Amino acid sequence: SLSIDPTRRGPAISDTMYGIFFEDINRAADGGIYAELVQNRSFEYSPVDNSSYTPLTAWTTTSIGGATGTAEVIDDADRLNERNRHYLRLDLDGNGGAAGAYGVTNAGYNSGMCLERGKKYDFSVWARTDRERGTPLTVTLSDESEASLTAKPLRLELRGDRWVKYTGTFVARASSTTGRLTVAAGGAGTVRLDMVSLFPRETYLNRPNGMRKDLAEKIAALEPAFLRFPGGCIVNTGSMYPYEAPDWERYRSYQWKDTIGPVEQRATNANFWGYNQSYGLGYYEYFRFAEDIGAMPLPVVPALVTGCGENHVTEDPELLRHYVQDTLDLIEFANGPATSTWGRKRAEMGHPEPFGLTHIGVGNEENLPEAFFERFTQFRKAIEAEYPEITVISNSGPDDSGPIFERAWELNRSANVDMVDEHYYNNPQWFLANNDRYDSYDRNGPQVFLGEYASKDNRFFNSLAEAAYMTGLERNADIVKLASYAPLLANVDYVQWRPDLIWFDNRTSWGSTSYETQKLFMTNVGDEVVPSDASSTPAPETPITGAIGLSTWATSAAYDDVTVTAADGRTLFDDDFSGGDARWTRATGRGSWSVENGAYIQHDTAAENTMVTAGDPTWSNYDLHVTATKRSG
Ligand code: AHR
Repeated sequence: SLSIDPTRRGPAISDTMYGIFFEDINRAADGGIYAELVQNRSFEYSPVDNSSYTPLTAWTTTSIGGATGTAEVIDDADRLNERNRHYLRLDLDGNGGAAGAYGVTNAGYNSGMCLERGKKYDFSVWARTDRERGTPLTVTLSDESEASLTAKPLRLELRGDRWVKYTGTFVARASSTTGRLTVAAGGAGTVRLDMVSLFPRETYLNRPNGMRKDLAEKIAALEPAFLRFPGGCIVNTGSMYPYEAPDWERYRSYQWKDTIGPVEQRATNANFWGYNQSYGLGYYEYFRFAEDIGAMPLPVVPALVTGCGENHVTEDPELLRHYVQDTLDLIEFANGPATSTWGRKRAEMGHPEPFGLTHIGVGNEENLPEAFFERFTQFRKAIEAEYPEITVISNSGPDDSGPIFERAWELNRSANVDMVDEHYYNNPQWFLANNDRYDSYDRNGPQVFLGEYASKDNRFFNSLAEAAYMTGLERNADIVKLASYAPLLANVDYVQWRPDLIWFDNRTSWGSTSYETQKLFMTNVGDEVVPSDASSTPAPETPITGAIGLSTWATSAAYDDVTVTAADGRTLFDDDFSGGDARWTRATGRGSWSVENGAYIQHDTAAENTMVTAGDPTWSNYDLHVTATKRSG
């Protein structure tokens, strides 16, 4: 029974209590909310991003009317620009007569491009030709069976041997989820192509270079009060690469400056989650999206200490200064006047008014509290000196408790940090059992930003447990100021992490039961808690015994071998992690999930490593034991 006394006053609930956390995981950006339909549009895919990639991933060669030639991805002095280094060179034999054309076809993401009858699609390409009288370019949209999806092809005439952007618009005359875009050149000579793009005219609020409408609308329907971005592990993990490594430049961590300006001038990069990120969805688009959905932007910058399964600390003071300065520049990009260096770049992109940044996160789930805090302090000092009005958010590492968590909190508390970002993914029973987690938090210490949490599945019981838990967040709204479920998006064909809030394929999207829970709370935020007392907690219908849903990450970076056994002695999982390259284990989400003998296993197949999250797939009764041999050194 509940007793409610309306005369007692509880804490006020902040308007910014519930928000969203967007990370480019599960192909949430390219092939997801970023509306571009062409995959590998700038021919920058490389085995460095994913061992299965080639520079022509998603592309095949195409011959029309008997034309022949060669198609090769090149990196030479003829490149489009220094940051977009590769382009496609077509050497044309001149066969096939006037109707002949040779080129390439792009298959998009998932089963292909999703095109809707009657809708407009904007095509663009950067191109040049060495043929003096020019080269005809034929651009077509067809489906898997090569049936044309438009009334007629686009015909463009390339002129001159310098890079020029050519554009055209299609109207789809039929709908398809297996759309393909073909770009083919006629005649003889050499044609160079780069940044081949097909964008639906209709995006969220019809923003150019914008967001896929159905996904953005589902997010907007949550009425998020803040948008934490761009990660997650993709933020801080690049910094695990030794600065001294010859390939450092390729592997550096997320740098916001790479992601702004004209899209053809943005660098692409390997994503922590094992694929190429185009940065077409970059910092400007994040800020603009936050503004469009009425959310406070909350960027997270790397602190030069890794988390997410590895323990690398970048010692180079020069590099630290560089990242601290980049963070100050980011604040200027968001808030500075249009006359300032970085504010001008924002204005040039179409937003002279400031974006109104008030909070910034430094670091994500670092495993080494001391090393992290030392660096965090330098970021904080520099930000507070120049922008005292900005709240600088620290974090408590990757766990909900334990030595790293305790030490991180100790450091944050002793330095009077404003706000600490906590992350945890647990089974539903944990959420039910820990409803009182924040009841005992020190009211004089830092405030809490619950930046990532989820109960580990997308079943009704999980969302119910999350709802129960959220009542505990609200009861403690005087200390818990921000909370966001994670991850936000999952492309069904590229799942690296589950559960997720919103699922999608190339055509449609749907919310999980957790989405409905979040929506219920997020669109009904109270002003103030009315205290209540419960005389008992209802017992779960199924009695639960044993250790529940043990979940652990064991990576080949840290362990030589891992065995998971059930209480009855059965071996559920055994791997000696042989043949792995520890560096790649940062891609914790790559590969597939599977259920083996009752354990929940994640294989990082592409990198020949294996991660194991052990736990019953239904997260019910299992008594699991993990034995792991620590990697020497
Ligand atoms: O939300 C998925 C991942 O979980 C995030 O990248 C990371 O911060 C956490 O470990």
